[in-house]
Amino acid sequence: MQSQQQKVIFSGAQPTGSMTLGNYIGAFQNWKQLEKDYQCYYSIVDLHSLTVKQDPETFRHTCLSFLAQYLASGLDTEKNVIFFQSHVREHTELAWLLNCYTYMGELSRMTQFKDKSEKHQENINAGLFAYPVLMAADILLYRSHLVPVGEDQRQHLELSRDIALRFNNIFGETFVVPDIHVGKQGARVMSLQEPNKKMSKSDENQNSVIYMLDEDDVIIKKLKKAVTDSYNEILDRPEQPGVQNLLSIYSALSGESRETVVASFEGKGYGALKMEVAEIIVENVKPFREKYRQYMENIHYLEKVYQSGANRARMAASITMEDVRKKIGLVSV
Ligand code: TRP
Repeated sequence: MQSQQQKVIFSGAQPTGSMTLGNYIGAFQNWKQLEKDYQCYYSIVDLHSLTVKQDPETFRHTCLSFLAQYLASGLDTEKNVIFFQSHVREHTELAWLLNCYTYMGELSRMTQFKDKSEKHQENINAGLFAYPVLMAADILLYRSHLVPVGEDQRQHLELSRDIALRFNNIFGETFVVPDIHVGKQGARVMSLQEPNKKMSKSDENQNSVIYMLDEDDVIIKKLKKAVTDSYNEILDRPEQPGVQNLLSIYSALSGESRETVVASFEGKGYGALKMEVAEIIVENVKPFREKYRQYMENIHYLEKVYQSGANRARMAASITMEDVRKKIGLVSV
């Protein structure tokens, strides 16, 4: 149960085929930590994914598969409210209303919009433009205090704050103005091939990204090919981004501090580092894959999880909406 003092956290992730090691370490391990101290809403933001074209059958499967991956990563379904964004209609309702309090100029400045419209020139739709408003609605509906996201979402979060403040100024205290929650240092996993870039599923070079559903031999192969440098010394310093990335991964998965990890590799070569990192990834991926398969074989259970999540989310969302409708001057139903 949500206690009086418990602060609210909201975060969302778009359903993708397979979660990457970057998502797992950067987002999910962090989310798992937060479930202890906050009331957390973790949503699979399926509506956001519709801003790019989706094949209906594949999309439905991807969404369920992603839920199974949420659960496989160990998120507690009792402590957290886990749900599909599209199941709680208040998200789209609030998004529309907030659209009317958001300026074209603000949305035009969003770097993600600029990047995405560059990439999908054949489909620059209005949804893509209004994407950050739906995201603001996601967050504001639950009167969220904190939003754990990566740096790439900072601009969107700032817009959410601006919209909340603007609305509160016009209509009186309605929304909580959310803060960004930046995860642990070193929780950012970089590409195995270009360690100055973030690990990303859309990378052309698929050797640069580890998926949580990769088979063991694939993981080992990708690690063997990981880019390092010619210093031949395992040190934790910015001149060696490839090595640093491997150390970060090791530290995140083992729970050991970076210093301990660096010390444990003293005198060892890059080959050993890569193999040990591969091993610890495999150790984590194996149970993940196993749990994932079990969930996917039990669709009935998945249904129960997402229905109960949607019910709990709806309860909170409908209270906010009631307030918003009243403040705006809509005649009550
Ligand atoms: N835009 C986010 C991303 O691409 C996903 C997202 C949608 C989100 N709604 C959100 C994240 C609300 C945090 C809070 O990563």
